[in-house]
Amino acid sequence: MRLVAWQPDDLLRRLDDVVTVYGEAMGYRPELLQTRRGYIGSHVRRPGFRAVATLTTEGRVAGFGYGYTSAAGQWWHDQVRYALGEDSRRQWLTDCFEVVELHVRPAAQGHGVGARQLRALLAMAKGKTVLLSTPEADEQASRAWRLYRRYGFDDVLRDFYFPGDERAFAVLGRELPLVERPLEDASGAAGA
Ligand SMILES: CC(C)(COP(=O)(O)OP(=O)(O)OC[C@H]1O[C@@H](n2cnc3c(N)ncnc32)[C@H](O)[C@@H]1OP(=O)(O)O)[C@@H](O)C(=O)NCCC(=O)NCCS
Repeated sequence: MRLVAWQPDDLLRRLDDVVTVYGEAMGYRPELLQTRRGYIGSHVRRPGFRAVATLTTEGRVAGFGYGYTSAAGQWWHDQVRYALGEDSRRQWLTDCFEVVELHVRPAAQGHGVGARQLRALLAMAKGKTVLLSTPEADEQASRAWRLYRRYGFDDVLRDFYFPGDERAFAVLGRELPLVERPLEDASGAAGA
């Protein structure tokens, strides 16, 4: 497996693969994927766009992640801005990188691919804070939740409903840059 940084055109060239990975990871129906394809294609031109991908030795896309500078006028930004109080808006949205998508094919999950993608994306991200949204789930049972908690993401909004989606989401955030917390070994001592 090889982790690479993608420029906008790299992602566009692999858009079919990206949408396939996205659909497999999220378990979405093909009809929904066509709409997402359009969104993803338009996201690559947004200011501050950064993307990473994990490629197999045969060049298949095993995972990808991308984000951009969160700004007024973007649908997601405006929903979150509206839901936050004045202080939280200032704290989180003034200079913010949004992690828009982060996915790993089911067959490749559980081997640190998602963690490497998140680390690489945040290392390239511009901004003082990073925000993302993820479906509400049992924090211990969800790999995505465990990943975000491990990387220090805190609650910004909980049980939040985006218009047109009946699932509850959490908006999670942390400050940038990412300074990794030392891992603890089984005895509780900080590891190397
Ligand atoms: C969420 C997601 C991106 C995480 O990617 P991943 O590659 O599966 O997950 P990780 O990199 O965290 O690795 C998972 C496990 O491997 C462990 N791990 C980390 N590095 C490792 C390594 N080098 N070798 C082996 N295992 C490792 C981690 O401890 C983690 O364990 P845990 O899940 O029991 O806590 C991925 O599971 C996914 O696409 N899920 C479905 C879609 C989704 O929910 N996306 C996010 C929506 S916002």
